[in-house]
Amino acid sequence: MAGTIRIAVLKERANGETRVAATPETVKKFSALGAVMAVEQGAGGNASISDEAFREAGAEVGSLDAVLKDADIVFGVQGPDPALLKGAKAGAWVAATLDPFGQRLRVDAYAAAGIEALAMEFMPRITRAQSMDVLSSQSNLAGYKAVIAAADTYGRAFPMMMTAAGTITAARVFVMGVGVAGLQAIATARRLGAQVSATDVRSATKEQIQSLGAKPIFVESVAGIEGEGAGGYATEMSEEYQKAQAELVSSHIAKQDIVITTALIPGRAAPRLVTDAQIATMKPGSVIFDLAVAQGGNVEGSVPDQIVEKHGVKIIGYANTPAHLAADASALYARNLYNFLSAFWDKEQGRPILDEEIGDAVRLTQGGKVVHERLLG
Ligand code: NAI
Repeated sequence: MAGTIRIAVLKERANGETRVAATPETVKKFSALGAVMAVEQGAGGNASISDEAFREAGAEVGSLDAVLKDADIVFGVQGPDPALLKGAKAGAWVAATLDPFGQRLRVDAYAAAGIEALAMEFMPRITRAQSMDVLSSQSNLAGYKAVIAAADTYGRAFPMMMTAAGTITAARVFVMGVGVAGLQAIATARRLGAQVSATDVRSATKEQIQSLGAKPIFVESVAGIEGEGAGGYATEMSEEYQKAQAELVSSHIAKQDIVITTALIPGRAAPRLVTDAQIATMKPGSVIFDLAVAQGGNVEGSVPDQIVEKHGVKIIGYANTPAHLAADASALYARNLYNFLSAFWDKEQGRPILDEEIGDAVRLTQGGKVVHERLLG
């Protein structure tokens, strides 16, 4: 990577992907570090960023071939098809969300093409990497949008309203899974005036739920369960716990108007939290938003990008929720990439040099091989 570093920003090609991995703001910031930013034409169109706005910020805007020519780093929101990257320099980096477990063959193809693939979703959950964490920035927006979408589909209002024609009662919202998305879902539903309750397998979330003014619903009867594994993520729970959780949820869910599910376990299919039998106990007109629908779903019967009606209950889930907030999701994602690379910028060499802790955490391929420990063995 000798000389001025060139960063290519590609137009997303995946179905339904509206985000872009750079904004005029980050173009300016990278340019200030001495990088040349090359943005594929139309890359920001779905996120309300024109080619002109990128140009004014100092980017070169051109065709795929033009922007990739001699690129040292390629930015994507989702991982680009390795076949597209032929023009990039040997050993070029690709920084994107690469879905390493779901797209293993693509990871192998990056290795074969000599690309150094950096999976942004593998950013470690450590304090200094918080501003680089794309899962957090995107989940936060997704949690917000889930509540807004559920409210839009719900045939009633969220807040209690006293009108001349009589009183409307507040909606009851139950949030299952209180990570980044769940916390934002609770806060959003509260802002809309709903009565909110929430559950998680990690008992540390109990206080967070309360501090947002919601009611924690927790399995207390099964002793010795913390539910928290490495990096603050959930671990898979024992059968005994799952049974107790299902019983507790069953009695609670029947009284809810809106259920938002957000539960994920890294590297595994999403845990099933709501069964068809439980849906059948809910009132007609209730709405469930399954934020895990693309990872297999927390809710029985949920289908990506469809409103499925079961027992009079509408089940929604977007295949790509952050893509429904393209402008903000792009702005935060682009800042995550800037915060990541700028933290490692070597002024003399004019390029980023990753350290071991973060570099090893995100780097999937190097020197023609798959090198990440989670993908080996
Ligand atoms: P996630 O997206 O992996 O999962 C969402 C939530 O679902 C989690 O709270 C998880 O405990 C919960 N869950 C899993 N199985 C469940 C089940 N069967 N029933 C109910 N809930 C279930 O989680 P996310 O949002 O990525 O956050 C995970 C943790 O990482 C949190 O503790 C968060 O505070 C922490 N974090 C730390 C960061 C940092 O230090 N840089 C950045 C972001 C998050």
